[in-house]
Amino acid sequence: MTARIIDGKAIAADLRARVAEEVARVKRDHSLTPGLAVVLVGNDPASEVYVRSKHTQTQAAGMASFEHKLPAEVSQADLLALIEELNRDPAVHGILVQLPLPKHLHTETVINAIDPAKDVDGLHPNNAGRLAGGFAALSPCTPLGCIILTKSVHPSLEGMNAIVIGRSNLVGRPLLQLLLNENATVTIAHSRSRDLPRLCAQADLVYAAVGKQEIVRGNWLKPGATVIDVGINRIPTAEGKTRLVGDVAFQEAIEVAGAITPVPGGVGQMTVACLLVNTLRAACVIHRLPAPGV
Ligand code: GUN
Repeated sequence: MTARIIDGKAIAADLRARVAEEVARVKRDHSLTPGLAVVLVGNDPASEVYVRSKHTQTQAAGMASFEHKLPAEVSQADLLALIEELNRDPAVHGILVQLPLPKHLHTETVINAIDPAKDVDGLHPNNAGRLAGGFAALSPCTPLGCIILTKSVHPSLEGMNAIVIGRSNLVGRPLLQLLLNENATVTIAHSRSRDLPRLCAQADLVYAAVGKQEIVRGNWLKPGATVIDVGINRIPTAEGKTRLVGDVAFQEAIEVAGAITPVPGGVGQMTVACLLVNTLRAACVIHRLPAPGV
């Protein structure tokens, strides 16, 4: 038997539709239009694609989208001044600075300058700390998407063994916290972990977020496991183009797993949908409205 393919595209479309309904409701009942500002520094092609998709999907959900494109050589002072302006702007409820930033900019200082109430990326230490403490927080979008995809297979994660491979601030660490909040038992593995195949063999839920092409092999998996592949690796093809490959050897894994996300069409689609959710939630908190139904 081969694994069920988790349709991230369909799940993300459903989530975006639910966000759009809630946006229409807060506009109608409270004259509030949630607004998202995205800041892109430089012209990294992958970042440009992400930012364009954020802009289109924000507008499609009925929200206001503010795009700020700055030259690669912008000074840290000018970038911080823009963030200050967005912090003060009442039309902006969410601020996202696309990463990675050019080398001369200090990412930590830039993230720390964002008003935590508008930090829809969940990267500000206030939000990361609140999440780690088990308090209400804006959480990073990709891990939120991973949880929603997992729950499409297992509505309750209580007592399940999960392994998160990768410990980045954007994915691995917040995912660990979100899984703990779901009462899963979590192992977090990384480049120094010993015997990854043995650690994976015990996991009901496998999250691969390493950024290494097909590092997780089919024979590492417990039969029936749910596999969420966060990897987006661009591989050159013979025709001079690139194709996307995940961190999991998909063709091997579908023979062993119970359910698996494809790349593309899995986690990637969920990140922007969850960004819309976070922007709507942030707008409701800032305006002291009840939490939205998504
Ligand atoms: N670059 C790749 N993914 C992300 C993300 O989720 N947020 C930000 N800010 N930059 C990214």
